[in-house]
Amino acid sequence: MTATPPYRTALVTGASRGIGAAIVRALRAEGLEVWAVARSAQRLEALAAETGCWALPLDVTDTAALEAAIGPLAVDVLVVNAGAVSAVAPLHEMGRHELDAMLDLNVKAAFHTVRVVLPGMVARRSGHLFLVSSISAHHAYPAMAVYTASKAAVSMLAQNLRLDLVGTGIRVTELAPGRVETDIYLDAMGGDRAAVRARLYEGFRSLRPEEVARVLVEALRLPPHVDLSRIDIVPTDQAFGGVVLAHLAGAEAQGRESSQR
Ligand SMILES: NC(=O)c1ccc[n+]([C@@H]2O[C@H](COP(=O)([O-])OP(=O)(O)OC[C@H]3O[C@@H](n4cnc5c(N)ncnc54)[C@H](OP(=O)(O)O)[C@@H]3O)[C@@H](O)[C@H]2O)c1
Repeated sequence: MTATPPYRTALVTGASRGIGAAIVRALRAEGLEVWAVARSAQRLEALAAETGCWALPLDVTDTAALEAAIGPLAVDVLVVNAGAVSAVAPLHEMGRHELDAMLDLNVKAAFHTVRVVLPGMVARRSGHLFLVSSISAHHAYPAMAVYTASKAAVSMLAQNLRLDLVGTGIRVTELAPGRVETDIYLDAMGGDRAAVRARLYEGFRSLRPEEVARVLVEALRLPPHVDLSRIDIVPTDQAFGGVVLAHLAGAEAQGRESSQR
């Protein structure tokens, strides 16, 4: 079975590895022409040789370059996936560069990518936007304030687009994955892949990037009048919700109380 609506082209950002590369493979298998966007030209060329996609090397945080490269393209399916965890730290311990990097990529570039592609979809009265947020867009995480807030912005963008695009025939789907085994934490956790594996992935059944891609394709295949507006994709062994009471250990709490008196 191939994609049901008459979509011919797709553009995927953050396509050089991880979830984005898996989505490119899945969309190519559906018979779509796919532009794969990321900074690493070499990885994109390898993906192009493997899948027949078009490599489009681009730093999506360079808004002028983004407009020039993707503005002229007629994109039917847009997957806004490029994102990063630049640091795992509370805001007061985070450096200026890491803060800006996450907001520039996860928020500003995501918004600009949609802004540049959407007018063509509206003119053609057809298209499907996929915005990759995170389960953490909807739940607080210790030491992840900037990342979770950036993903909450993406989630709210998706909800607002649904309102603004009603009647245009354009579908909007927020994909909110839980833990997927990729290199997303590699830089923030010191660049040691074995250490990251041991800390996050070993002994735990994470999602694989191709499973997220499979969910996206299922949403794409639905009849045009059906929109899966938000999909949480989590490992069976991972749960979210409830209430977590953050509290200080006894001695620390007493120390803080006495210093406040
Ligand atoms: N892995 C998870 O557990 C998880 C969970 C929830 C949500 N997500 C979200 O899923 C998306 C994909 O994450 P992933 O796990 O696949 O991460 P990843 O393996 O680190 O891949 C990130 C991709 O983004 C690209 N990228 C980074 N900066 C870029 C820039 N300035 N311009 C263009 N492309 C850029 C990278 O390629 P280059 O370095 O070549 O540019 C790479 O292809 C992200 O939005 C992430 O927040 C991931």
